[in-house]
Amino acid sequence: PQQQRIFSGMQPTSDSLQLGNYLGALTHWVALQEEHDALYCVVDLHALTVNPDPAVLRERTRRTAAQYLAAGVDPSRSTLFVQSHVPEHAELAWVLSCHTGFGEAGRMTQFKDKSARHGSEGTTVGLFTYPVLMAADILLYDTNLVPVGEDQRQHLELSRDLAQRLNARFGKDTVVVPEVHIVKETAKIYDLQDPTAKMSKSAESPNGLIELLDDPKVVAKRIRSAVTDADREIRFDPQAKPGVSNLLTIFSALSGRSVASLEQDYEGKGYGDLKKDLAEVVVGFLTPFQARVHDYLADPASLDAVLADGAEKARTIAGVTLDRIYDRSGL
Ligand code: ADP
Ligand code: NA
Repeated sequence: PQQQRIFSGMQPTSDSLQLGNYLGALTHWVALQEEHDALYCVVDLHALTVNPDPAVLRERTRRTAAQYLAAGVDPSRSTLFVQSHVPEHAELAWVLSCHTGFGEAGRMTQFKDKSARHGSEGTTVGLFTYPVLMAADILLYDTNLVPVGEDQRQHLELSRDLAQRLNARFGKDTVVVPEVHIVKETAKIYDLQDPTAKMSKSAESPNGLIELLDDPKVVAKRIRSAVTDADREIRFDPQAKPGVSNLLTIFSALSGRSVASLEQDYEGKGYGDLKKDLAEVVVGFLTPFQARVHDYLADPASLDAVLADGAEKARTIAGVTLDRIYDRSGL
């Protein structure tokens, strides 16, 4: 039987990915590549929506790819590429934008949040149509499953609506309707300083982030300074105790130990003990990860060859889908 197709991507909007990207998405990408036909993309066109410095964007694209590889994305099992190397993404995005309602796009909560922060003049049209480009990314590859964090659920719903709309207008086999793949336990890692907000590499302050490429000493300090609460109980209760629960989620995901067993082990102990041990676990994960990233970055020719090979493979799939949609659209 044919393997299910997987597609996912991350924006090169920072020098380093953050732990939420890793736990919410990247670890699942690595697990899924074994049994699926996976495409993993560095979505640099998406990063243009915030007008990055060109040299910085180019460097971050390469660094993001190196972090995928260091996390275990294996180019012999998955197709690893850069979005702008496959022009079909932008081409399909235009077609899909002509099937998206203005009000429908305006209801995307991530756009509402971001545009509220940037103001009307600071908000690009690209930020508005971002979810349409994301739908194009997914539909281009006849994707069955999209592994992402909780914050992408609404965008995935739009991708599904657009797929169904195309199939209703042009015939039911025009595109595959994708399913979202969200792993509940790690679907949303929270900011260490504001444990009601998601950890994000585009956060205004880095103090609440665990950045994968940061100095381990800085990471340990941020964990020790994480916001908790006024009582002393180490208990998983996201509503009443969001800070402590977030630390337990991270601890569990990186150590492979269940939250229940952690609660048991830390019974009667203080938040300081939990933070100290968690910092050790995180640093123990980051140290070899960072060494692998540096190895990949030290050999840019090999990295570029992997990305060129990935783009070529991706284009052969994307071209077929785009031809079909153009043809049915009268183009
Ligand atoms: P960011 O918000 O850090 O800029 P992206 O928009 O590039 O992240 O998203 C990359 C992937 O990481 C997506 O699948 C997204 O759902 C996931 N992700 C981002 N932040 C988190 C988080 N705090 N917890 C879980 N998953 C996350
Ligand atoms: Na695979």
